[in-house]
Amino acid sequence: MTLLGTSDADITAAAQAIREGRLVAFPTETVYGLGSDAFNAHAIGRIFAAKKRPFFDPLIIHIAERSNLTKVADLDSLSLAVKEKIQLLCQELWPGPLTLILPKKDGIPLIATSGLSTVAVRFPSHPIAHKLIARSTGAIAAPSANRFACLSPTCAEHVQEQLEEAIDFIIDGGHSEIGLESTILDIRDGIPRILRPGGYPKEAIEALVGQTFSQSGDTNGISAPTAPGQLKSHYAPQAHLFVHSRVQMLNLTAFGEEQSAFLFFDASSAKIVSRTLKHSAILSEKGDTTEAAANLFSKLHDLDKSGVTAIHAELAPDTGLGPAINDRLNRASMK
Ligand code: TXA
Ligand code: MG
Repeated sequence: MTLLGTSDADITAAAQAIREGRLVAFPTETVYGLGSDAFNAHAIGRIFAAKKRPFFDPLIIHIAERSNLTKVADLDSLSLAVKEKIQLLCQELWPGPLTLILPKKDGIPLIATSGLSTVAVRFPSHPIAHKLIARSTGAIAAPSANRFACLSPTCAEHVQEQLEEAIDFIIDGGHSEIGLESTILDIRDGIPRILRPGGYPKEAIEALVGQTFSQSGDTNGISAPTAPGQLKSHYAPQAHLFVHSRVQMLNLTAFGEEQSAFLFFDASSAKIVSRTLKHSAILSEKGDTTEAAANLFSKLHDLDKSGVTAIHAELAPDTGLGPAINDRLNRASMK
């Protein structure tokens, strides 16, 4: 594996590697992605192998221009009203942490979509991701750059720790600003459904489409086609993760504390614990869900590295990016 910087020459070399069918981990504003040419079935197969990801879990296709949407998705079969909503979402929320589920275009190999006739498409806002996509083939298939079901990477070091042996290049673009994955939205039949809560809170999407809808962070309530990525166990650290409400967190017994780490949502709950904890972290001092989301995976990585056998994490409030944080914590806690 070669570690690249963000110079023009490095991005050009990485884009060339993508065109040649190789794998490049790259920064996005959500988490790092592990990319290959979206039109090359063989290269996409290498992504599944590198991540040890089951073939039934489809990938997101990343584009860097709105006009490239029609190269990967086929909007013809959608009603005019749905097309208008999609156009509005693309206009207002792209580039950014929104992934849309759309009918697949033939040029996208079925291995990328796990045989589904739909494709997940995202237009990330990270400038390095833009350059890489634009200089390769205009569409990059990329899951998060972690081993399957493990913690998502928010910096190059996280990728290196998990995938060093299995991939060709990592572009080091510093820390991901948002820190958790994109919101996945299926609006094909006119009824918006969030298949995965993420970087855009549901309220932002509701305001735009003029409809309120339920947030479905779990498999209940999701109608066909199911999102294979809604697998119950996901985003997990090595240590066993336990999630708690604030009250439960404050009443946790001191038993086994040496081997346990505590992840508090904000400073006020951390302060109420009167004794000194050996391993603890706070997601956002002032209790801001956006800041907490940005810190979630990196704090979990750090606590995990301290060698504890259990991590006790406090759930976030149910506003802003709180539901997306809680979705990741709940999935990580289910073994
Ligand atoms: O922010 C993100 O979305 C990051 C960055 C790298 O862009 N990517 C990411 O990819 O989170 P991944 O592979 O870790 O998660 C993709 C999710 C999976 O849960 C997968 O099941 C779902 O998207 N997905 C992909 N294609 C789908 C489809 N056609 N229908 C329903 N769900 C789909
Ligand atoms: Mg992932």
